[in-house]
Amino acid sequence: MDNNFDVIVVGSGPGGYVCAIRSAQLGLKTACVETRKTLGGTCLNIGCIPSKSLLNSSEMYHKAKQEFNNLGIETGSIKLNLTKMMNNKNKSVLTLTKGIEFLFKKNKITHLRGKGLISAKDTVTVTDNLGKKTAYKAKNIVIGTGSVYSSLPGIKIDEKTIVSSTGAISFEKVPKDLVVIGGGYIGLELSSVWKRLGSNVTVIEFLDNIIPGMDKDISTEFQKILIKQGINFRLDSKVTSVSVVKNKAVVDFTNNKSAKRERIECDKVLVAVGRKANIGGEISRLGIKLDNNKKIKVNKKFETSIKNIYAIGDVIDKGPMLAHKAEEEGIAVAEIIAGQAGHVNYDVIPAVIYTSPEVATVGKTEEQLKKENVSYNVGKFPFLANSRAKVNNETEGFVKVIADKKTDKVLGVSIINALAGTMIAEVAIAMEFGASAEDIARTCHAHPTHNEAVKEAAMAVDKRPIHF
Ligand code: NAI
Repeated sequence: MDNNFDVIVVGSGPGGYVCAIRSAQLGLKTACVETRKTLGGTCLNIGCIPSKSLLNSSEMYHKAKQEFNNLGIETGSIKLNLTKMMNNKNKSVLTLTKGIEFLFKKNKITHLRGKGLISAKDTVTVTDNLGKKTAYKAKNIVIGTGSVYSSLPGIKIDEKTIVSSTGAISFEKVPKDLVVIGGGYIGLELSSVWKRLGSNVTVIEFLDNIIPGMDKDISTEFQKILIKQGINFRLDSKVTSVSVVKNKAVVDFTNNKSAKRERIECDKVLVAVGRKANIGGEISRLGIKLDNNKKIKVNKKFETSIKNIYAIGDVIDKGPMLAHKAEEEGIAVAEIIAGQAGHVNYDVIPAVIYTSPEVATVGKTEEQLKKENVSYNVGKFPFLANSRAKVNNETEGFVKVIADKKTDKVLGVSIINALAGTMIAEVAIAMEFGASAEDIARTCHAHPTHNEAVKEAAMAVDKRPIHF
């Protein structure tokens, strides 16, 4: 095999594999190194995809138990078979990772199996599972090695009793009591899964609101909905220790304001307090510069401090740590390497929490705009007044549109609803085209659809919603 490439991508997550495909499409001779047996990185193997499979299955189980009867669907007793549910999840993961293998073959991308290390400015050395090392030369190298979980000082994740998201998507039985440390994306999605399957779930969050960084309005409403679903919250609380005694965990925590101490005994503890860049020692040995957050510093063209070595996705400190952000960067960097004008618009990156209902946002929050001294108008429309949501019994939540006071340009939108994650794409497109709230309000939306609530919220910016 010829060991010389135009581009070698290290890591095959959503950033890396997309970058490899786009590079190959642009006629660059491309290879992608991956340590895992299967392609797709955290997202496909132990992140987005398996968690969404469990979110979907557990929601169906919950609906079958709690809602079918009211709809006139009478069933026998509904029983959970967790092993089958997990097998279905594993099958989905396998199908999708195989799909990327197929795409690599289709695009003539060389899949290098093993641990890739950038051993020199133009060389990636791959160590395979037998320990054999092979050096590959590349005109351009793209680092897309993603992120790994963070923990708290003194808390050791054993993936049995104290778990990361990896352990929490593979429990062999439903924990009776589950404590989740961190009320962010992972914490709330996996709390929802296990609550629906029968666990008693308590979320301990350090700050005084869940999903910090999201619009306050949304996080308050979202928490109310989750409390109604039976999830317990301890906000503004600092976990001081977690110990394991005979397969049970004891979690001690203190309220930041009242200094009141509490202890919860439980079967499993999920630590979901964020993730950190996955960077090996070779990076610093080569002299690639990191920033204060221990992420790789890149310029506007995603180039690191070393020429022709680029970095994308969770390893860089640009935008949120989200799979679709990494994909955009993967495409941009391939185009930049090919001499085109690759670009990512960080102002329009949607974020979705795939709970039930879903929560989706794009653009700025009210809190951010206040900080930036931008004057704005807000239009809100509740799903209680949307006919389709009403007939589907999905009336929780609302759409909130924030538009510039002077120009009416849409600056940010948040949605809580069963279909929020899909609905937000409409707004993202509108924002990419620089739409005003009036543009959305004047766009004909099909009836009856959940999306009519977006149109109504846009009309509410000008205080003229029709159905509320
Ligand atoms: P996160 O950053 O979303 O949330 C971490 C939470 O832990 C925050 O609310 C933070 O205030 C809290 N926290 C930090 N230290 C704490 C402490 N000592 N005690 C209690 N709470 C503490 O991180 P998470 O949930 O671990 O997710 C990791 C990454 O994965 C995120 O960047 C997220 O964007 C991504 N992700 C995205 C998903 C999606 O797009 N649906 C799903 C899952 C993960």
